[in-house]
Amino acid sequence: MTLRIPARVETQRLVLRTWQSDDRAAFAMINADPAVTEHVARLPLSREQSDAFVDRIEASWLHRGYGLYAVESRMSGELVGFCGLSHHRALPDEVEVGWRLARAAWGRGLATEAALVCRDLAFDRMGLDRLISVTIEANVRSSRVMEKLGMSRWRTMPFEVWTLSIWAMTAADRPA
Ligand SMILES: CC(C)(COP(=O)(O)OP(=O)(O)OC[C@H]1O[C@@H](n2cnc3c(N)ncnc32)[C@H](O)[C@@H]1OP(=O)(O)O)[C@@H](O)C(=O)NCCC(=O)NCCS
Repeated sequence: MTLRIPARVETQRLVLRTWQSDDRAAFAMINADPAVTEHVARLPLSREQSDAFVDRIEASWLHRGYGLYAVESRMSGELVGFCGLSHHRALPDEVEVGWRLARAAWGRGLATEAALVCRDLAFDRMGLDRLISVTIEANVRSSRVMEKLGMSRWRTMPFEVWTLSIWAMTAADRPA
């Protein structure tokens, strides 16, 4: 397998890395929290659904050479969530930067810290022309992270039970 982005990256407060078997229990706890899944799934995920999600993430790393990183706190060593590059089912030809953090980790700029690294890998390592991120209007925290990356609202799109808000940027849109 050839990775198109590194298997491990460190930021000031975080380690972004490929997944380990002991991440699954911690990730299932995050996905079982209704506050975390409010804007991303109709229901909190069961352990089986959470594990199936990790299976899909690992398949992406294997087949595409990129994917969603497990995000770990450098201070505690605990899994705080994911951030990385994937493909949304609504727009499978686009590369999406996405994130999901444990409730206890919100509000400290950690999602932005992780997403900035992923944004730069998308442009500088993968050479993408465009990077998107998908949310819904009600998800103001996530929309704010998109703004801080340099993204703008691109289009809306009905999909399943949602009206998706699609944000996008090019490398030139990166704030100085
Ligand atoms: C979205 C999420 C990753 C944000 O994580 P985070 O670490 O709190 O994000 P950051 O601290 O980097 O940035 C959040 C921004 O939203 C702002 N914000 C927080 N609550 C807000 C609110 N109620 N209204 C408006 N802005 C708000 C913060 O002030 C911050 O912006 P600032 O840096 O300009 O002050 C986190 O809330 C999460 O995991 N949510 C559940 C999963 C999810 O929704 N994933 C995204 C799907 S598209």
